[in-house]
Amino acid sequence: MNNIQNAPFMVDFIRTVTNMYTHGWDERNGGNVSLLLENDELYTYLDQDSVIRTIPTGFDAPELIGKCFLVTGTGKYFKNVQYDPENNLGIVRIGKDGKTAELLWGFCDGGRFTSEFPAHMMSHTIRLGIDPEHRVVMHCHPCNLLAMTFIHDLDEREFTRTLWRMITECMVVFPDGINVLPWMLCGTNEIGLATAEKMKTARLVVWAQHGIYGTGKDLDEAFGLIETAEKAAEVYMKIAHLPIKQSITDKELQIVADAFGVKAREGWLEL
Ligand code: 13P
Ligand code: ZN
Repeated sequence: MNNIQNAPFMVDFIRTVTNMYTHGWDERNGGNVSLLLENDELYTYLDQDSVIRTIPTGFDAPELIGKCFLVTGTGKYFKNVQYDPENNLGIVRIGKDGKTAELLWGFCDGGRFTSEFPAHMMSHTIRLGIDPEHRVVMHCHPCNLLAMTFIHDLDEREFTRTLWRMITECMVVFPDGINVLPWMLCGTNEIGLATAEKMKTARLVVWAQHGIYGTGKDLDEAFGLIETAEKAAEVYMKIAHLPIKQSITDKELQIVADAFGVKAREGWLEL
């Protein structure tokens, strides 16, 4: 067996959560990430028959049976992951009943996966149905996006149009826009279902007064989506209280979309 700590997916994952921490998106235990692994690759590092323990998930995910995920642990600090991955991270496989997770590696102090496991797994299910190359769900608490949910209309079309206007390339990065959930209690199946529903039409979902979810085919794509949305929100928070002299028009946003070969969310530009 190869050493799993040297696996490219493990190295990439640890670098990414460390980077999220240094961006200030993950105070204390804030945020969580899950990465869908390729079983053939994983089983060159782990014996697929060695299940350390099984953990009930509290929901049914029949579409994910047999799939393996590298996931952050509940209550664990992103800043510590690089120094002790086996304690702060785990690899789980969704069991044959669809309702349990089989721990194959990690959570070695007896811990378990993030409290947002329902939102992660339900979002994976939806995004995989839309894009078979989808692999990552990422959640964090970036300051400016969070701040924006206190002062901006939460209508997702208006929220997105504001952010599209803040940096020319937002249209290129997230033409599908950002969906928004009102405040809800976190860590529940209910917010998981609501998040997954919002994932049907966008790869980014804001949780008002809490944070954001980004998804993608790899860690870079999910990170880059959040990074770009957060930068746009930062520009907004710097200018929202100032008189605006000029901005990007919807016609110009359409010119950007055409130039980069992307399609803005249907009906979201006023042309
Ligand atoms: P966990 O520590 O359970 O991952 O929770 C952090 C969080 O951000 C909850 O939304
Ligand atoms: Zn959170």
